[in-house]
Formats: sequence, C-alpha cells, structure tokens
Amino acid sequence: MRLSAFTVLLPILSYLDGATAWGAVGHEVVATIAQMYLHPTVLPKLCEILDFAPGECHIASVATWADQHRMQMRWSASLHYVGALDDYPSKTCAFPGSRGWAGSRQINVLDGIRNTSSLLQGWVNHDVNDDVAEEALKFLIHFVGDMHQPLHLTGRDRGGNSVKVRFGRRVTNLHSLWDGFLIAKAVREVPRNYSRPLPYPKVERALRGTIYDSYIRRLLWEGLLNPWATEAESWLGCPTPSTTDGSLSSSGLLGMMHNAYYYTGKLVQSIIKDGVEIIPDSDTICPYAWSKPIHELNCDLIWPKEIDEPPYNTVSFDDSFGHDHSHGDHEVFMEDESKSPLLNLDTPEYAGRVYREMIIEKLLAQGGIRLAGLLNYLFADYDEDTFGPRRPFITTLNV
Ligand SMILES: *[C@@H]1O[C@H](CO)[C@@H](O)[C@H](O)[C@H]1NC(C)=O
Ligand SMILES: *[C@@H]1O[C@H](CO)[C@@H](O)[C@H](O)[C@H]1NC(C)=O
Repeated sequence: MRLSAFTVLLPILSYLDGATAWGAVGHEVVATIAQMYLHPTVLPKLCEILDFAPGECHIASVATWADQHRMQMRWSASLHYVGALDDYPSKTCAFPGSRGWAGSRQINVLDGIRNTSSLLQGWVNHDVNDDVAEEALKFLIHFVGDMHQPLHLTGRDRGGNSVKVRFGRRVTNLHSLWDGFLIAKAVREVPRNYSRPLPYPKVERALRGTIYDSYIRRLLWEGLLNPWATEAESWLGCPTPSTTDGSLSSSGLLGMMHNAYYYTGKLVQSIIKDGVEIIPDSDTICPYAWSKPIHELNCDLIWPKEIDEPPYNTVSFDDSFGHDHSHGDHEVFMEDESKSPLLNLDTPEYAGRVYREMIIEKLLAQGGIRLAGLLNYLFADYDEDTFGPRRPFITTLNV
C-alpha cells in the first residue's frame, strides 16, 4: 500500500503541535520504556490479554486507548487524575489539605491503579475473565502515565486547564503546556547523534520507528543509563506502613476494600471533613507515596509565582472540582484573543529550567520504571522460595 504524503504527515503534525502529547507522546514513551524493563515471561502474557499477534505486540500501542475512548466512557473521565483539595498556597503543598480529595469515592487515578492491579491479579489467579483483564490492563498502562503528569494530581484551577499562558507566540493553558508543548519542543530539539541505535538490544527492540525514538534514546543515555541508574530501583519502593497493622499489606480486591473501610472507619474520618478518602497504599503498590514528590513539582516549579500576582492573577478562577479536560480538545490559539496580559513561559527561567534539569524526562522515566515494576510484579513467573517475597522489580538493560 502506498501512503500519501498526507497520511504520513498528519500524525506527525498532530504529535508535534503539542495539543495531544501527554495524550500521545508522553503515554507512549512511558509504555515504551516499561517494555524495555519487562521480565521475559511478562510480555507474552500481556500480548495474550491484549489479543496481539505474537511478534507484533507493544504495550505503547494501547497507551492512549483510555483517552481515545473517553467520549464512549464518560464515566471514566475522573479516573485520569486526582484532585487534591486545598493544595495551595504553595508553601505548605498539602497533598491533600484538610478537606481531603475532590471527586467521588474510588474514582481517581491513584485508586484506579490499585483497582486495575487487583483485577489483573485476579486474572492471573483465574478469577477474572479476559475481557475485564484487557480493559484493566489498558487502563493501568494509561493511569501510570497520567500519575506522572504533575497537573493530574492537583485540583487547582481544573488541573491548570483554566490558567491561560503564553508559550512563545502561542497561547495555551498550563495543563496543555505540560501535556504537550514542552515535550513537543524537547522532541524537536534532540541532538542528531541520537538517531543512531544505542548499543542496547533491549532498547532498540522496544523502539518502534516513531518520531520520538531519538528522544527516548536521549532520556536513556543521559538519564536512566547514567545519572539515574542507581536510584531507579528506589522508585519502586514503598514506605513501610507506619502502623504495625498487618491489614495494610493485604492485597487483592477484598483486601483493598477492607483497607479502605479500615481507614475510613478508624483513622481518616476524624481528619477529612468534606472530601473523599483514597485507598491506602499497600507495602508493594503505593501510588500515593509515588505521587507525593510528583505533586510537589506543582508547588516548586509548575505554577509560576507570577500567576498569583498582578497583572497575571486576573485570569478567571474556576473552583469547580473536575479537571474536565479532554485530550486533543485543548484551547490552542495562534493569536492572543484575550485582553488580559499573559505570562510567557518559554523563557530560560521556566522552560529552560525544565530542560536543563530534565524534569519531564525524569517523570517519564519514573513512569516507565514503575509500569514495568508493576507488570513484572503482577505477571512474572517468579519463584518466591528463591527470590523472597514478590514485589515490583525491573530487569537490567545490560544483557
Ligand atoms: C475498576 O476497573 C474496572 C475495569 O476496568 C472498571 O469497570 C471499574 O469502574 C473500576 N473501578 C474503579 C473504582 O476504578
Ligand atoms: C550526543 O551528543 C551529546 C552532545 O551534544 C553528548 O553529550 C552525548 O553523550 C551524545 N550521545 C551519544 C549517545 O553519543
């Protein structure tokens, strides 16, 4: 089949215009990195669940499924984020504040990770059917990506969707800037030497010939394989629960419900007044602990101080709970249509710092490592007698 220039160019343009990118590049980068670190017994099981022909199986190809089907699954919209109430002013950076979490009970990204993990554990134990497992796996791959977009962890201004900003000549909002514009620019500016394969067969096998392959090689070479190599394992760790109550470590759906009840009844009710509770972390799967430092980026970096001061603080403030954003449907204007001045974030202090400190690359790397860790934990053939208690782990790229 011959592809016209149009069919070839269209996906490239929509990737790079920035409007869809944590909806596409970000999610697919996370899944591609995860695929590199899977235990050899895991990918065949994922391919079976996803009903891929062997040899054509890549988890990145389903990484945006949950966004693409958002309209048909309106019930799932609030599963893509968690809104911490009262998590600003930035000084305290509460996660969440005293009123807890916005939204409905168990309908948020952190609980979604626990829920889908439990369902997949059920599939391994033959308690859950293939269709349910397929949906759960596609959601899990997506949720781990969403959890590593810091603006999916705050309830402020609908996750930044209500905050108009400028990025160079373009007008967008803070959420879209982090979903797409910053990644798109980073992808465009990868040095040419990364178009050559890296001497790691596992890396090259997981790359799919996309426009962001070079970006992933750079993330690995300048991040995961070098400065972050020693800390990557620690991204999978969970804090030991501070209570000695053994119920915190129980796993599976029933254990999860029990824990939620335990916390609601005994501990959290006295603290949280208006908000909902989330499922407490277990000692092997701990989305709350993993997301806490990611949320802190909102306070340290993502919300520029100027946004709270004149003249930029005049942008209308919308305190509704939901993020209510749909990927690919962001406001992107070439011309500034509003009268109020807009803060430009394509500056050395803002975008420059994000690039210098490899902030986005590190988030994507953490997402990839955690997704691999969870999938290995759930699916790897694993001998507990030899290796000790099962927990999330990754394989090395050095073979
Ligand atoms: C749990 O996952 C299942 C399957 O994907 C979904 O139908 C259900 O709505 C989810 N529930 C929560 C609370 O996330
Ligand atoms: C690519 O070039 C940069 C300098 O522009 C260098 O720091 C990096 O190590 C090179 N990467 C590879 C894989 O050779």
